[in-house]
Amino acid sequence: MVLESLTDNGVSMRYLAIISILALQGQAQHGKLDDKDKAKHPFIGDPVAIEAGHKQFANGCAACHGAEGKGGRGPNLLERLRSDELTDPILYQVIQKGVPGGGMPGANLSENEAWQLIAFLRAETSPAVEGRPGGDAKAGEESFWQTAKCGGCHAIQGRGGRIGPDLTNIGALRTRAQLRDAVLAPDLNPVQGYQSATVVLKNGQTLRGVARNRNNYSLQLQDGDGTLHLLQMDLVREITISKHSIMPNDYGQRLGKQGLQDVLAYLSRQSIRPVETAKK
Ligand code: HEC
Ligand code: HEC
Repeated sequence: MVLESLTDNGVSMRYLAIISILALQGQAQHGKLDDKDKAKHPFIGDPVAIEAGHKQFANGCAACHGAEGKGGRGPNLLERLRSDELTDPILYQVIQKGVPGGGMPGANLSENEAWQLIAFLRAETSPAVEGRPGGDAKAGEESFWQTAKCGGCHAIQGRGGRIGPDLTNIGALRTRAQLRDAVLAPDLNPVQGYQSATVVLKNGQTLRGVARNRNNYSLQLQDGDGTLHLLQMDLVREITISKHSIMPNDYGQRLGKQGLQDVLAYLSRQSIRPVETAKK
């Protein structure tokens, strides 16, 4: 990585060239980077643009930045994009013109294509609640509580089951991509304290459930009814933590394409604090 020296207003040297290009174009006054007052580009948070941007990323960027943007020949973009310095206008310039003197070639996309790409990159790093729902949240709510029965295991605002993590604030905690992965492939990212375990007691009895809290002396096992069993470790012969989540792994088929979008829309609206949300 390049050594970053900071100017007195906290902007690293490597962006100065880009900032001066922007200044020339009148997009940034006096090298100020703050674009917070400006309205976001309409593509940001738009699921259709994000999808198109994803394809462009796969075609033009993944070779150097990795299929998931986690880095390769080029830096880890997921980390870099959290930097306040990399505002949307700067990102636009980096994509179109490359990094002067670095190993990053300019992509020279059409304006729309570049903004689709930015919409994709932002969606990968921002909480789902900041994007548009991208589905029918009302239909998703019905599915969550009735048809797909997610609420049997998950609670939202005090209502629902306790086998899986509480989802009251999940839209603020996860990106849309993380929510999609969580629903489609529950085995991919196990959540601490919610992994399924099989416990064989010394008396031969076998118990299955979610291993909640565990220390050297005891284990809390929550069974399918939500009942907590506190087991003394000296009565336990064997504990096996399963690689497979208790959460069903066939929701992709069960929900269908639209059903999935609707459930994601509902999840993405779950946030404790009201936030600035892109409209439908
Ligand atoms: C040939 C390899 C290559 C390709 C293709 C490429 N990049 Fe890069 N990219 C790099 C390298 C190397 C850097 C680091 C440059 C530096 O810091 O001097 C970089 C830097 C960046 C940065 C700046 C990160 C920072 O730390 O400030 C962004 C943003 C970026 N790339 C996005 C993209 C996007 C989006 C695409 C697809 C259009 C893309 N890159 C395609 C190699 C590449
Ligand atoms: C049988 C219980 C069960 C059902 C039904 C279930 N889940 Fe889960 N869910 C879990 C468990 C357990 C986890 C924790 C993942 C792990 O480590 O196994 C989880 C994880 C998640 C996460 C990730 C939470 C986080 O903190 O990242 C999301 C999102 C989620 N579930 C949504 C859903 C949705 C939406 C449905 C219905 C379509 C659903 N779940 C149905 C048990 C369930």
